[in-house]
Amino acid sequence: MSATPVPAQVRHRVPKHLEIAASAAEIAVEAGALIRGYFERGVATEYKGDVDLVTEADRASEKLITERLTAAFPDHGIYGEEGVRQRIDHEYRWYVDPLDGTTNFAHGFPVFCVSLGLEHRPEGLAVGQEGTLIAGVIYDPTRDELFVAEKGEGAWLNGRRIHVSATKDLAEALIATGFPSRKRHVSPNIHFYQELTLRSHGVRRTGSAALDLAYVASGRMDAFWEFYLNPWDTAAGALLVQEAGGTITRFDGAPFRVDSSEVLATNGLLHEELMMLFADMFAGRGLHPIPTPAEFAAARASRSS
Ligand code: IPD
Ligand code: CA
Ligand code: CA
Repeated sequence: MSATPVPAQVRHRVPKHLEIAASAAEIAVEAGALIRGYFERGVATEYKGDVDLVTEADRASEKLITERLTAAFPDHGIYGEEGVRQRIDHEYRWYVDPLDGTTNFAHGFPVFCVSLGLEHRPEGLAVGQEGTLIAGVIYDPTRDELFVAEKGEGAWLNGRRIHVSATKDLAEALIATGFPSRKRHVSPNIHFYQELTLRSHGVRRTGSAALDLAYVASGRMDAFWEFYLNPWDTAAGALLVQEAGGTITRFDGAPFRVDSSEVLATNGLLHEELMMLFADMFAGRGLHPIPTPAEFAAARASRSS
């Protein structure tokens, strides 16, 4: 396999004092170049679950990231989507999504990224207890966009500080969501998709939860929600949103945790309105009726007769 060149000049895209983020950025960019190479050459797709896809690129990226993180941070733990579990009882733990957006990737749809989030877990923290997210890097190799954040130091895109949007009303918001590739039949998300579509400028389904969060952080999206996410999907993006001035919680406003599974991330200004809407919907209120396909077909038939 021919080596794919790593895009130059990662260092100048990360503020000098963000040393952990800078090392992680180098690794994410190298992994991004690797998966972009596979994308250009084409890869076979396998199934992990009923429509849960995986490719050689996911595995090769996780292997490379694991080697590089281990060399850069020998004491840190690694928790990767494709199965790496190394030193996870250590004080620092990386959540690694070696390729977020695999379904897009496998279909040749150029929206995917690498996501690395670092959690600090002070000594004495029980296994199920939450640590603190302290660094996050998301790299999109198709646009050469590098998002980085460190706790208390802000969030950055290609070296420029980023902030969440100033949109105050849901009616003027652009929102993102995603649908799980497992447990598809137990997810009620299509109802939320319908309702949010009717109440906003639109809902995008990019196919990469990490990019959705990076886009909320950078003001391209005003909010994002999803059911059934994993720590590797959200760890880096959650810190980016917080460091860009946004808010991330569970649907009922309870604090976000990497193992929360459900995520509501907004520019902060829309958070209350969305939480109220979610509460209404979970209580069976608030759905605008739309015609069923059969009702629509009957109305269309009666118009044309
Ligand atoms: C998926 C993507 C997608 C989201 C799914 C995730 P993967 O991750 O983030 O946007 O809707 O819930 O599983 O499998 O491509 O790493
Ligand atoms: Ca993912
Ligand atoms: Ca993945």
